[in-house]
Amino acid sequence: MKEITTDRIVIVGAGLGALYAALKLAPRPVVMISPEVLGEGASSAWAQGGVAAAMDEKDDPKNHAADTVKAGAGTVDPKVADLVTRHARDYILDLTRLGAPFDRTDDGGYVLSREAAHSFARVVRVKGDQAGAEIMKALIEQVRDTPSIQVLEGTMAVGLDTSDGKVTGIAIQDSDVSRSAPIMLRGAAYLLAGGGSGGLYALTTNPPRIRGQVIGMAARAGAVITDAEFVQFHPTAMDVGEDPAPLATEALRGEGAILINKNGERFMQAIHPDAELAPRDVVARAIFSQTQSGLRPMLDTRQALGAHVKTQFPAVAEACARNGIDPAVDPIPVAAAAHYHMGGIATDTDGRASLDGLWVCGEASSTGLHGANRLASNGLLEALVYARICAEGINADVPAIVTNTPNTPLNIQFETGGVAPDPDAVMTLRQTMTSLVGVVRSADGLKQALCILDGLETAHADSPSFLNMCATATMIAVCALLREESRGAHERSDFPDTFPGKGKRSTVLLSEALAL
Ligand code: SIN
Repeated sequence: MKEITTDRIVIVGAGLGALYAALKLAPRPVVMISPEVLGEGASSAWAQGGVAAAMDEKDDPKNHAADTVKAGAGTVDPKVADLVTRHARDYILDLTRLGAPFDRTDDGGYVLSREAAHSFARVVRVKGDQAGAEIMKALIEQVRDTPSIQVLEGTMAVGLDTSDGKVTGIAIQDSDVSRSAPIMLRGAAYLLAGGGSGGLYALTTNPPRIRGQVIGMAARAGAVITDAEFVQFHPTAMDVGEDPAPLATEALRGEGAILINKNGERFMQAIHPDAELAPRDVVARAIFSQTQSGLRPMLDTRQALGAHVKTQFPAVAEACARNGIDPAVDPIPVAAAAHYHMGGIATDTDGRASLDGLWVCGEASSTGLHGANRLASNGLLEALVYARICAEGINADVPAIVTNTPNTPLNIQFETGGVAPDPDAVMTLRQTMTSLVGVVRSADGLKQALCILDGLETAHADSPSFLNMCATATMIAVCALLREESRGAHERSDFPDTFPGKGKRSTVLLSEALAL
């Protein structure tokens, strides 16, 4: 394999964590591996709700941490919840300084939305439901103006090279022509910030390229993976036949939108005292059960918002319009869709993975913040906090090399020769995950899924990108099989109870998972 060596820090990904880390590392030279043009294809850009932070003077980071721990169903690390929530306000102020146009009140405060399982309105938003896209836009502008950051747009990472438990290189290839032969990029240090796994499921709110490749790549190199079984399903993905499914943000329910079925029944009131604002896993299961029973669940914004959906939630309004729905007149059909992977590459409180020289932030990581059920709008916050921690850790651990030409761009020329994932195999994998490793799981279904995944992996072993997807899917299914209880987003029909003694986080290596 062709090799390129650089003094730059290699950052895999182009979402919020990747951009913020690159800015925090500046003026240290970095190279970002971005599968698409910056701003496109990253889950962060699709985040509607916003960033959770205790901004209200009556609120306190301690409340935010307590809500995070409670939502996580017994598996959140309280130290991490404290670490992430304590200075959340400072991150909002920093993003404001960097140009994020948060919605403001007339007296200069921040407009705060209410989302499920938060005891206060504390989600800082932008233009109603545009938080992810607008924050990303502001950071992308900063990144483009920072000479130390080189962005390789249209490239993706497909493998890690290691020696004696230390990462020594990242194999990259052209992401559009994924038939290009990989090149081994050897950098000063490596930060994985390449997103989660939602697209491993046929029904997902995640951008098309987010299919567990980064987690799988690290697992295949021997990194420890934690909490793999905990996949969060969003209750109100629009059920309009689009892949990915457009999101109808939880903030709509925060504004009073209700959930009804085809009989007009408001079913959440009978399920949880907080009704539509019950924890996300509870609402997702209720939606799933309505769908399974043919009762067609719908999000009804008519009374709560009427025509204001258009002005207050433009992304939702646009997706509705595209699908011939006027939310002022018609309820929006919804389904539970894979949305966020709480599990991922195990990281310590310094953002380090179990392999030397490797740091991780954002959804690819598993820091212990989210437990079995992530609190809404904690994802972007965690990405910011750990991006900064990783940048500081890299600067402390990896001495910068001083040269006269620090920002000379790398010249990467791909040659032909790689193997793209087979689209039929990818679809079989995604359908298997949705039907057998989805909202409700059972031992029989999980074993069947593992057999299918095994067959797919053997048949398509020539595509590293597909093997990365298979690795993550396998870890999710194995850990779901091993967790013989229901907890947070992990529901087992054959083990419906939560057992107090089983709240330990799952920790596994891919080699162990495959040996089971
Ligand atoms: C939403 O806006 O409903 C999603 C927010 C999140 O997943 O944190």
